[in-house]
Amino acid sequence: MGKSLTPYTSTDRMRDLVRDQSTIILILGRFGIPLGFGDKSIAEVCTAHHVDEETFLQVVNYCTGRDYHYERISLTALIEYLRQAHEYYLEFNLPQIRRKLIEALDCSGTNDIALLIIKFYDEYVREVRKHMENENKTVFAYVQQLQQGYLKREYSIATFQGKHTPMADKLKELKEVIIQYYPEKNNFLLNEVLLNIMLCEEDLTQHCDVEDHIFVPAVKLAEQRLLQSNTAVYTNAPKQVEVKGKNLGKLGEREKDVLVCVARGMSNKETANALCLSVHTVTTHRRNISQKLQIHSTAGLIIYAIANGLIQLDEVKG
Ligand SMILES: [Fe+2]
Ligand SMILES: [Fe+2]
Repeated sequence: MGKSLTPYTSTDRMRDLVRDQSTIILILGRFGIPLGFGDKSIAEVCTAHHVDEETFLQVVNYCTGRDYHYERISLTALIEYLRQAHEYYLEFNLPQIRRKLIEALDCSGTNDIALLIIKFYDEYVREVRKHMENENKTVFAYVQQLQQGYLKREYSIATFQGKHTPMADKLKELKEVIIQYYPEKNNFLLNEVLLNIMLCEEDLTQHCDVEDHIFVPAVKLAEQRLLQSNTAVYTNAPKQVEVKGKNLGKLGEREKDVLVCVARGMSNKETANALCLSVHTVTTHRRNISQKLQIHSTAGLIIYAIANGLIQLDEVKG
C-alpha cells in the first residue's frame, strides 16, 4: 500500500492542482470557476468567483482520493455544484456523444445494429434525465426546505439513499455492445467516441459517488442537527440497496427462445403462451438472460439477438 496523499488546502496554487489532476478541469467548470488564474491560491480564486472554498476543497480532495470532510461543506454550494453537473451531462456531454455516435456509425439505414445502438443510447439518456430531474426537483428541494427548518415525516435523505442507483452501468453496457457486436473495420471516429463514453462513464460514477459520500452524509448531519433542536417526530428508516449476484455465461436453449420473443416485442404473457411456459417461468428466464449477458434494456437485448443471428431486423416491432 502506498502512502496516503496529502489533502489540498486553501493556500495551494490552483494551477498546481490542475496540473496534478487533469479531471479537476471538469470540477472547476461546475463550480463556475474560469481558467486564467495565474499564480493565485485556491482561496484567492474561490473568493474572486464567490465559490465556497471549503466545499470546493472537500469535493476536490474526495475526487482525487484524498482525505475529505463532508461536515465542512456548505449544502447550498454543493447543490449548486451538482445542479451544474446535471446541466453539463444533459445539455452538453450526452448530446455531444450522440452526435459523435451518429457520425461514427453507419446510419444510412443499411446497418441494422447502428440504428439499434442509437435507440439504446436514447433510452439511456432518457433514464439519466429522469434520475437527474428527480434530484433537481425533489431531493434538492427537500434539502432547501430542511435548511429553512422544515422536517418531513414521510421523507428523509435515507429514502433517496435507498433508491439512488448508479447511472454509469448502462453506459458501460452500451460500450460493451459496441465493442462486441458492432461489425466494423477500423474506424477512428468510433474509437474516439468509445473513449468519450468511457470518460463519461468514469465521470458519472464519480458524480454519483460525490452524492453518496459527501451530499448524503452532509444532509443526514443537517437532519440530525435540526431534529435535536426540534420536537418533530422522525420515523423514516433507510432502505437497503439490493445487491444482485452476477451469473455471467452463455444462454441455455430455453433462454434463447425467450430472448427471441422479447426481441420480437412480445409481452411476458404472449411469450408464455407461445412457449407453453408459465408467466413466472418467463419472468425468471428474462431475469437470468439479463444477468448472464449483463444487458438490461430491451434495445440492448435486440442488438444481441440480431448480432448473434437469433432474429432478423424485420422481425423487430416498430
Ligand atoms: Fe446527480
Ligand atoms: Fe444521482
